[in-house]
Amino acid sequence: MLLENFEIPDLKAEITAIGDPFFHGNTSLYIEEIINNKSNHKVFIAERGGNVAGFLILSSVMDEAEIIEVAVAENFRRNGIASGLMSEIFDWCLKNGITQIFLEVRESNFPARECYRKFGFSENGCRKNYYRNPVENALLMSKKIVLPTFSI
Ligand SMILES: CC(C)(COP(=O)(O)OP(=O)(O)OC[C@H]1O[C@@H](n2cnc3c(N)ncnc32)[C@H](O)[C@@H]1OP(=O)(O)O)[C@@H](O)C(=O)NCCC(=O)NCCS
Repeated sequence: MLLENFEIPDLKAEITAIGDPFFHGNTSLYIEEIINNKSNHKVFIAERGGNVAGFLILSSVMDEAEIIEVAVAENFRRNGIASGLMSEIFDWCLKNGITQIFLEVRESNFPARECYRKFGFSENGCRKNYYRNPVENALLMSKKIVLPTFSI
């Protein structure tokens, strides 16, 4: 579900609780910027039992988007939640004229790399020692968004 800006303050604590431990940046900083209308980021969430089970932050400029962060609460992983969020952003991108999505991922983050690969992202670059704590390479991945074609 794509959150409207006015919904984000209520869910800020839940979102950051899932995000911060895993993210090299700072989820709450992003959320704060979105709340204050200072960024072009969008927040998508997946709910389970009335709570936030996972979220994805997407930024977009013109016809390009970037996955800033995606995280699923530990007890909800391997239940298709990230998959649902991916499908949702692909729909959103199609409707909003986005033709390509980019992202960065830690080289050692096997689950995330597998997830992105499954959804059609391919690796096309590496930023050496990009991450801190611990220092690690960032792999660059991207995916083109194309309208599905139908044959009769
Ligand atoms: C990466 C992450 C978001 C995946 O979320 P999830 O809801 O568990 O993913 P899904 O259940 O939708 O799985 C989708 C696909 O991802 C891959 N995948 C997910 N977890 C995996 C794991 N532990 N090992 C291998 N592949 C995995 C699989 O290809 C899976 O498809 P399958 O179930 O058909 O095999 C989750 O592990 C997470 O929150 N990790 C910590 C935060 C993080 O690292 N975010 C990425 C930052 S770049």
